[in-house]
Amino acid sequence: MVLFTVSRKETSPIQGQKPGTSGLRKKVTVFKQPNYLHNFVQATFNALSPNKVRGATIVVSGDGRYFSEEAIQIIIKMAAANGVKSIWVGQNGLLSTPAVSAVIREREGKDATKAAGGFILTASHNPGGPHEDFGIKYNMENGGPAPEGITDKIYVNTTTIKEYFIAEDLPDVDISTVGTTSFTGPEGSFDVDVFDSTDHYVKLMKSIFDFESIKKLLASPKFSFCYDALHGVAGIYAKRIFLEELGADESSLINCTPKDDFGGGHPDPNLTYAKELVTRMGLSKSSSEIDPPEFGAAADGDADRNMVLGKRFFVTPSDSVAIIAANAVQAIPYFSSGLKGVARSMPTSAALDVVAKNLNLKFFEVPTGWKFFGNLMDAGVCSVCGEESFGTGSDHIREKDGIWAVLAWLSILAFRNKDNLEGDKLVSVQDIVQEHWATYGRHYYTRYDYENVDAGAAKQLMTALVESQSSLTDLTETVKKIRADVAEIAEADEFEYKDPVDGSISKHQGIRFLFRDGSRLVFRLSGTGSEGATIRVYIEQYEKDPAKTGRDSQDALAPLVEVALKLSRIEELTGRSAPTVIT
Ligand code: G1P
Ligand code: ZN
Repeated sequence: MVLFTVSRKETSPIQGQKPGTSGLRKKVTVFKQPNYLHNFVQATFNALSPNKVRGATIVVSGDGRYFSEEAIQIIIKMAAANGVKSIWVGQNGLLSTPAVSAVIREREGKDATKAAGGFILTASHNPGGPHEDFGIKYNMENGGPAPEGITDKIYVNTTTIKEYFIAEDLPDVDISTVGTTSFTGPEGSFDVDVFDSTDHYVKLMKSIFDFESIKKLLASPKFSFCYDALHGVAGIYAKRIFLEELGADESSLINCTPKDDFGGGHPDPNLTYAKELVTRMGLSKSSSEIDPPEFGAAADGDADRNMVLGKRFFVTPSDSVAIIAANAVQAIPYFSSGLKGVARSMPTSAALDVVAKNLNLKFFEVPTGWKFFGNLMDAGVCSVCGEESFGTGSDHIREKDGIWAVLAWLSILAFRNKDNLEGDKLVSVQDIVQEHWATYGRHYYTRYDYENVDAGAAKQLMTALVESQSSLTDLTETVKKIRADVAEIAEADEFEYKDPVDGSISKHQGIRFLFRDGSRLVFRLSGTGSEGATIRVYIEQYEKDPAKTGRDSQDALAPLVEVALKLSRIEELTGRSAPTVIT
């Protein structure tokens, strides 16, 4: 048994350690500054109640991006010094964000111990590598991101920190091999338990979905599919689930070996960054000649996001969650006794609202960020939820779940084709989406992102928009002058949310312009960027007439886009004539 001692180190506050929408994300060069990670980790330990640290079990792992291994060794040594009893590490330090949530909720260690929480090392969809982003966030014992009460405390702690504790003489632990290494410190034993990164997650997925029926779909010669992990951690789950469990062909998987720099790419599953998949699915100019697979999907770096595609067909994330909700009870065994309720983030389109209304389901609209869904799920009032930002999930865990969303779609396809696998043509992704529009109407939707704009200019733009809302009459006039053919504005406000479970209030959650025909414009600043500011503009229009649901989305939205750009004076204020990304 190796003995270790605890050192107390003096330190001082480092500016800028305020966690954003999803933890602290900065350039690797920032994280590598002396004491930067140490301060944040100690501030986190100090923000948690002592019994969730001393004698507790915590998880640490992430998407494998550059600096992860170094960070894991530091966190192990600091956990030991702070009295943590046992630390669980996914093999090679890899665990997807949804898998961390599942492990916290489901895994039992020695003597049936459960984890009290865990550090997730990821900057999600941001690029990785020595000059790119690293990130860290803490999830609580329900498996969900720390609530604002805790992240605020962490931040305050980082501004007053004077010391941290570390077991400097604890040797680095080999995290490449499964097994437990035990040490002894001043407070007794300390274990590092390295476990298989996929086992618990796969078991959970098998308890939710009917793998046999999905297997039959994949075995049909008429079905073909393609999954792109963009070199993120999703690759290890994709290999295990799609290849080993469901019998897919190896050629169905692309970029499924995790890399610490994501192969130099931007691991964000959208039409701009998932280039290889988009080409394979027949959605790029260069792929007009090919015969694309029936189904395509991608994940982001930490595998909580997903993009779903059909043959030459894009499914908006807002439609995706609505369609999953509409089909869940029939197609997914986990939901067979009914949905407890559904929820979406405010900027997500109202497609889900229409489903909830038709199916008479409880419905919630929450601010951006997954943590707001967690309270609803813990209270047992929400089964399925989603965000426009390629996030979909359910109450099986407390994070969005990229692989789950793909399995949900495969389940719907398997269900719709169960008596049709020998038929002439399978019911396709496009058929399912178009049928959905015919039943519920279509929400045309687009999001414009202006990344890394000057923070002062972004703030000025937002302030001016809030000011424009002070008189509805003037605002109506201004909009009419920009485009006479859009509907009149019915309401304009800043979104504020009162959590129905704990009563907490979140203000300034996005600037909304609501039109009489159900159209909406929303403006918000990103809380996940690591440089400058990112302005997000969300544009949505509802079309009930089935004869008009087949238009090109950017064409249909052109008038509202013009209103959004001119009303916000975005070019004048930021100098940007076009967004960096359109989804
Ligand atoms: C973005 C998305 C948001 C998501 C978050 C974490 O946050 O918009 O929906 O929950 O990433 O994946 P934002 O940068 O807009 O604050
Ligand atoms: Zn992510």
